[in-house]
Amino acid sequence: SFGMLMAFMLATGYQTFALEMGPPSHGETIDPQKVDETAPFDQPGIKKIGENEYEVVMTMQIFSFNPSDIEIPAGATVHFILTSKDVTHGFQVAGTNINAMVMPGHIQKITQTFDRPGEYLVLCNEYCGAGHQLMSTTINVK
Ligand code: CUA
Repeated sequence: SFGMLMAFMLATGYQTFALEMGPPSHGETIDPQKVDETAPFDQPGIKKIGENEYEVVMTMQIFSFNPSDIEIPAGATVHFILTSKDVTHGFQVAGTNINAMVMPGHIQKITQTFDRPGEYLVLCNEYCGAGHQLMSTTINVK
């Protein structure tokens, strides 16, 4: 059984380092020490980019989302561009299929159309420290 464990670890290590099978990030990386100085994360916020189309540039850090309490009109298509300033966080939006890891050093991109009005709960679903359970916000679709 020890031999099998070693074999699995070697296989995982080979995939990670030799084949560069990292977590999904569209290949876009960022210096996690310089998030505040790196576009677009130097200006986090909501931007209207088209007819009922928005871009949300968001940074996450223990235990908050910036921006938080997002408001958008019903039917809006939102392009989320996310990164973390410290540890790995989760970005899950209840009532949608959004469920992503947001890691320091990686840019996570998600597009979602919000057809149904309502208040959507946004949760961090990766354990990120002592206040993890407090890390939540909302997306209000009006
Ligand atoms: Cu952030 Cu859990």
